[in-house]
Amino acid sequence: MKFTTPATTNPIDQLKVVGQPVDRIDGPFKTTGTARYAYEQHETVPDAAYGYVVGATIAKGRIASIDVEAARRSPGVLAIVTYQNAGQLGKGKYNTAKLLAGPEVEHYHQAVAVVVAQTFEQARAAAPLVKVRYVEQKGEYDLERAKKSARLPKTDDKPETKHGNFAAGFAGAPVKLDATYTTPDQSHAMMEPHASVAAWNDGKLTLWTSNQMIHWGTQDMAKTLGIPVENVRLISPYIGGGFGGKLFLRAEALLAALGARAAQRPVKVNLTRAVMFNNTTHRPATIQRIRIGATREGRITAIAHESWSGDLPGGQPETAVQQTRLLYAGEHRLTRLNLAVLDLPEANAMRAPGEAPGMMALEIAIDEMAEKLKMDPVTFRIVNDTTSDPEKPGRKFSQRRFVECMRQGAERFGWNKRNAQPGQVRDGRWLVGLGVASAFRNNMVMKSAARVRLERNGSVTVETDMTDIGTGSYTIIAQTAAEMMGLPLERVAVKLGDSTFPVSAGSGGQWGGNSSTAGVYAACVKLREAIAARAGLDVATAEFVDGAVRAGGRSVPLAQVAQGGEIVGEDTMEYGDLDKKFQQSTFGAHFVEVGVDVDTCEVRVRRMLAVCAAGRILNPKSARSQVIGAMTMGVGAALMEDLVVDKRRGFFVNHDLAGYEVPVHADIPHQEVVFLDETDPVSSPMKAKGVGELGICGVGAAVANAIYNATGVRIRDYPITLDKLLSKMPLRA
Ligand code: MOS
Repeated sequence: MKFTTPATTNPIDQLKVVGQPVDRIDGPFKTTGTARYAYEQHETVPDAAYGYVVGATIAKGRIASIDVEAARRSPGVLAIVTYQNAGQLGKGKYNTAKLLAGPEVEHYHQAVAVVVAQTFEQARAAAPLVKVRYVEQKGEYDLERAKKSARLPKTDDKPETKHGNFAAGFAGAPVKLDATYTTPDQSHAMMEPHASVAAWNDGKLTLWTSNQMIHWGTQDMAKTLGIPVENVRLISPYIGGGFGGKLFLRAEALLAALGARAAQRPVKVNLTRAVMFNNTTHRPATIQRIRIGATREGRITAIAHESWSGDLPGGQPETAVQQTRLLYAGEHRLTRLNLAVLDLPEANAMRAPGEAPGMMALEIAIDEMAEKLKMDPVTFRIVNDTTSDPEKPGRKFSQRRFVECMRQGAERFGWNKRNAQPGQVRDGRWLVGLGVASAFRNNMVMKSAARVRLERNGSVTVETDMTDIGTGSYTIIAQTAAEMMGLPLERVAVKLGDSTFPVSAGSGGQWGGNSSTAGVYAACVKLREAIAARAGLDVATAEFVDGAVRAGGRSVPLAQVAQGGEIVGEDTMEYGDLDKKFQQSTFGAHFVEVGVDVDTCEVRVRRMLAVCAAGRILNPKSARSQVIGAMTMGVGAALMEDLVVDKRRGFFVNHDLAGYEVPVHADIPHQEVVFLDETDPVSSPMKAKGVGELGICGVGAAVANAIYNATGVRIRDYPITLDKLLSKMPLRA
C-alpha cells in the first residue's frame, strides 16, 4: 500500500482498541522473568560456550603482535579469535569503526580478541593472558582543541543553511545574544548490556541478539562475514533498552558468530558493563554557538546556530542545529554543522540525535534572550511561533500546536506564580526556581511490512521484524490488528524481532510506533479483502465487528470463514512525498521546578510537566511511559551524565554505572504528561507520530533555566553539577 494522500476516515478511527490505555501485553512476561532476552537462550541453545571480549588498551595505533599461547592453554578454553585467524572481514554499512581491530586500532576498547571457553569464568580468566603488543600513535581526543580543524561534513542532510543575510540582520538588531554552550559525551547506559548468542548450522548463522533494527543487523552481519544474507537469521524478541546504542550490528554479535565458528559450537557473548562505554557508540560532545537578534518588541529577526562535534574518520556529526531550522520565525538565518576528527570511540545516534543536545543549547539561549528583552519566556516563544517552515515560506507544517502546548503547560504548571527576578524564592534551605523550554522533534515515516494471519480458531497472528525495546510495540501492534479485524485484544497474537518476518521500520528515530503499526494496517487491509472474498461478501462494504465479517445483511464469524484453512494478508506501507510537501514535526512544552540547596548547591528537581502534541496517541499509557522515561533521561543530561575524556590516552574514564551517573527513582519527582487530542492525517493512516524522543527534547534546558531562576547563576556547560554553581553563587552574609 502506498500512502500518497492524507488519510480519510478508516477503521482505526473507531478507537475501540486503538487509543485505549491498555497494559503492555509483554508486561507479565517481563515481570515474571519468563521473557527470554538474548543472553537467556539456554533452553533453545543448551550447549553454548562463553565468549569474553578483549578490548584494546590504546586508543590509536597498530597491533604489533598477539601472543595467544598462554590463553589457549588456560583451563576450558576452546578457541581464540583475533584478526589474524578471523578470515577476511568486511565492514557494515552502519559501522564507522571496525568491530574487530587489527592490525589498526581505531579506538580504546575496540575488540582485539574473543576468548571462548566452557564457562564464563574460564573465558574471563583466560582473557588477560592474551598478550597484545601495540605501537601507539598520537591521537586527537580534545574537541575544544580540534574545533579549529573541523570541516563542513558530507551528510545526507544539509550541513549548512543560509537564508536572508544573517550578518547584516544580526548587526542591525537592537537586542542581541551571542553565547556558546557545551554538551558532553553521553552514553546510552541501557539496562541490558549488548548480548548475543550465535549458532552455526550448515554454514547458516542464527543469532539471538539485542538489536533495535533487525534488517540493518542482518544485512550488516552478512556483509561483515562475507556470506549471503539468506544465511543470516537474527532473533530479537525482547530488548532491555537501546536508546540508539543497539541500532547497529555491534562487536559482541560479530564476535559471538566468529567464536562459534571457531569453537564449532554455539557461543554467547555479553559485553561487560566496564567495556560497553568505550567499545560501543556514544552521543558525541558538542560546542554550540548561538546568536539571536530581535526587535525591542521581542520579534526574532536573525538567528544563527553553529555546532561542532567530533567523530572517527568517516563518521558523522551530531546534527544539533536541525530544530533551529524549523522552530522559530526570523528572516535572517544561518545554521552550520562542523565535524572534527577525534580518535575517541565511535560517535553515533542516541535518543533524539540532533535535537536532544541541540535543544539543550537553543532553549537556554531563548531563555537568555527573553531575559534581555524583559519578556516572559513563554510569551517570547509564542511571539516567535511560525506557521510555515521558516526556511521555505509557504511550506506548511502538517500539524503545529506548539502555542497550545505552551499555553496549556503554563496554565497547568502555575507559571504565573513564577518570580521573574532570579534568586528570590526560598523554601527552607532551598532556593526555588521555575524553568520552561520548548520541545521539538521531527517526525519521520519509514517503509514497514507485516504479515497477518487469520487462524482457524478465528484469532489473528501478526508477524513483523519490528522490535520492542521497552516501548510497547507488541501492544500497539496488537491494538492495531484488533481494531482492523474487529477482534478483542486477547484474540491477537504478536510475534516480533525475527528476520524471517516481513521487514519493518524497526525501532529508531521515534518513527517505530507510527510506521510499524501503519505496516500492520496495510497487511490487515489485505487480510480483510481475502476474508471477505472467501466469505463471498462484497469486499468494498465489508465491516469487521465483534469477531465477524458482515456485508449486505449477512454476517459470518471469522472462525467460520477460516474453517477452510488459515488466511494470510501481507503488505508493506510505503510513503509518497507528503513528508516533503508538509513539514512533519512533533511539538511540546516542558516545565520544571527545581530546588537548589543554598549552601551546597545540590540540585533537586521538584516537579515536571510535559505537554505534547504528537498526532494520535495509540496507547496513552505506553506513550506516557515513553515520555516520563525521556523526561528522566533529560534530567540525567541536565545534572549528571558526562563521559569524562582522558585527553592523553583517549578513553572515557568513568566507564561503569558507579562513575557514569544516571538518575535513580530518588532523583525524580512527580511527573505529569499531557497529550493534546490530535490526529495527523498526513503522517499515515494511523494519523500518529512519535513521542519517544520528543519527551527528552528541551528537558535539559528547562532544568537549566529553572536553576537560573532559582539562583541567578547561568551555567552554559552541561551537566550542571554543584561545583559549577558553587563558584558563581553570590556570597551570603
Ligand atoms: Mo534512536 S537514537 O534512533 O534509537
